[in-house]
Amino acid sequence: MMNSLQQEILDLKKKKNAVILAHNYQVKEIQEIADFVGDSLGLSYQAQSTNADIILFCGVHFMAETAKIVNPSRKVLLPDMDAGCSLAESCPAAELAAYKERHPGIYVVSYINCTAEVKALSDVIVTSGNAEKIVRQVPADKEILFAPDQNLGEWVIQRTGRAMKTWQGNCYVHIEFTHESIVRIRQEHPDAPLVAHPECTRAVRMLADEVCSTEKMIDYCRNHAAKQFIIITEEGMLHRLRREIPDKEFIAGPTQRCSCAECKYMKMNTLEKVLSALQEESPELTMKSELREKAHIPLQRMLEWSRN
Ligand code: 13P
Ligand code: SF4
Repeated sequence: MMNSLQQEILDLKKKKNAVILAHNYQVKEIQEIADFVGDSLGLSYQAQSTNADIILFCGVHFMAETAKIVNPSRKVLLPDMDAGCSLAESCPAAELAAYKERHPGIYVVSYINCTAEVKALSDVIVTSGNAEKIVRQVPADKEILFAPDQNLGEWVIQRTGRAMKTWQGNCYVHIEFTHESIVRIRQEHPDAPLVAHPECTRAVRMLADEVCSTEKMIDYCRNHAAKQFIIITEEGMLHRLRREIPDKEFIAGPTQRCSCAECKYMKMNTLEKVLSALQEESPELTMKSELREKAHIPLQRMLEWSRN
């Protein structure tokens, strides 16, 4: 049953031919009114293929930017333009450009959690859902820099055996999970498989039964015989899992300081801001066409390689 604010958004969305794309970390009330809820990869494909006049993106800035890059003729709205990402912040384009000058010929593989300017300096983009697959397709003679997430980069190195230099960025949410906090929860639920996002540190990933993107967590938990799972990622993911797989139990992996982890940027979006964005058709995400065209090349390469 929708509340009145949700109903108002749904009515206006229909009237304006808008589509609401929401990331798995959005609050429950936003997930409930979205046309599509998913991970960065799924959201990119949805943004690319939509016929809606307006894409109302409930996620963070780099995700809305990605939507604009892959589908520039749509109006892209982001309820709060300050919804950033610690990974995107950790890699200023000027620093990456300087790094490339010092390492001529380096092949830059960038995690989608980066700015459009960084994408424009990259050879190919990856998401947590396809990073391993994409890196396996980089020509063998290339020296690779993986930016900006050192943890995802290390995980891909472990999985593929491919040597890569890694930018030293991280997700401020996922590095809060510690070996100690996860060992503790595992002892409390010894039979529950442990599912972790690759942005977690190696000390946490090594305890996990499965390391995967938020979307793949759904398939893993659905297809596994277990009835209880420990989920080590941002807490919004638990709403999605509980909605899609109601007969199983999901336990939030604790950090050292609290019982679950929240991304302050993802949580900047509220139903009130979503309604206002639709009413005002603002804040709108705009981008210079030169930047968009440059950023589109590695992103399009990813979308193609991801289908291989
Ligand atoms: P996913 O693509 O796995 O949803 O990850 C996005 C993200 O921001 C994780 O912190
Ligand atoms: Fe960025 Fe981490 Fe928030 Fe994901 S959870 S948007 S990586 S800060």
